[in-house]
Amino acid sequence: MKADFAVINAGQLITAAGYSERPKRGPELNELGIINDGAVAAKEGLIVAAGSTADVMKQVELTGDAMLIDAGGKVVLPGLVDPHTHLVFAGSREDEFEMKIKGAAYLDILARGGGILSTVRSTRAAGEDELIRIGEKYLAEMLSQGTTTAEVKSGYGLTVADELKQLRAIRSLQKMQPVELVPTFLGAHAIPEEYKGKPDAFVELVIGEMLPAVACSGLAECCDVFCEEGVFSVEQSRRVLEAARKLGFALKLHADEIVPLGGAELAVELGALSADHLVAVTPRGIERLAASNTVAVLLPATTFCLMGSKYAPAREMIAAGVAVALAGDFNPGSSPVNSLPVVMGIACRQLKMTPAEAISAVTINAAHAIGRASELGSIEVGKKADLVIFDAADYRSIAYRFGTNLVDKVIKAGRLVAGGKS
Ligand code: NIG
Ligand code: FE
Repeated sequence: MKADFAVINAGQLITAAGYSERPKRGPELNELGIINDGAVAAKEGLIVAAGSTADVMKQVELTGDAMLIDAGGKVVLPGLVDPHTHLVFAGSREDEFEMKIKGAAYLDILARGGGILSTVRSTRAAGEDELIRIGEKYLAEMLSQGTTTAEVKSGYGLTVADELKQLRAIRSLQKMQPVELVPTFLGAHAIPEEYKGKPDAFVELVIGEMLPAVACSGLAECCDVFCEEGVFSVEQSRRVLEAARKLGFALKLHADEIVPLGGAELAVELGALSADHLVAVTPRGIERLAASNTVAVLLPATTFCLMGSKYAPAREMIAAGVAVALAGDFNPGSSPVNSLPVVMGIACRQLKMTPAEAISAVTINAAHAIGRASELGSIEVGKKADLVIFDAADYRSIAYRFGTNLVDKVIKAGRLVAGGKS
């Protein structure tokens, strides 16, 4: 069999294989499918062989112009998948960072017109080109830290025109850089200033005008809502998501982040791909998630950045059989973190996830959370050749040494897209 790309001599090839049909749960999260002295070969972007270096090299014949990378005993993972980001925005919020240090609460800052609304003002004022330029810089940072696929939400426009502007910027970004993007419409992210005191009228705008315009544009795959006290209620969230489902969007939900409103239950009821945050999830919410295919996307960097004392109950969720994934939640307010290895480092220390569980949570389970598990998230024949080579001999180093970028090389669809040294 021909191959035009191969990585050989991986000290540990972490395949995360065997879970393309359904996400990992419970003890499965610790199964990494490790192949010692492993190799991967690809043709035209897709994996054609994976196994020991000797086996793979026996199976494939490299084309004359093939790229052959010797991993030299390093750890090789599937490309990392970030299933929850807000990376298209203008401005930054260092002022709120300092306010939070001094004790201000996230929802109080929002209620006073800051927080998300501050980024809405700067994003509305920015041109599409500026959003693209800023987004490109953040995506390059993510790629250099191993992210090869990311979900990206709108939600800082909150008018038909400004939401479409953000979504068009995401589409342009997809064409100009290698990180694969999954666009999500998040028009129900906050009540904008011009609708203050009239939340139902804003919900009408989202359902009656924004959703049809976004559906017609073809610019988003998923629809998300920030279901939270003082933002969108469970009933308002249900209305938006039901309307989105009718238009063919896959669903996601910012659920039970601060106040336990029952967002997890709503996400399960509507068959959402994921329920995200879940710091305040109730035992009932955990039970519902465990009995469903909705992935619980946990965002521990957000809790860390909000200086919260309580993290999402990951151990309870894993014990109950919930399919858990991890994401960065990259945004200018609650998580200016766009490094999944940093998220993994926090998840191990604060959510008490094992390094292996954290890897499953940013690869195959994260792929399930964005509806891409049949194409990526693990190293298996037929999937995209998305790989990250870490300068480490032991996969646990990635979370252990968080904060130091151990990424040596990044491969997207069988092409070397970052690293490149030696
Ligand atoms: O997921 N919770 C709502 N949305 C984002 C924060 C966005 C912002 O603060 O700008 C989140 O944390
Ligand atoms: Fe978010």
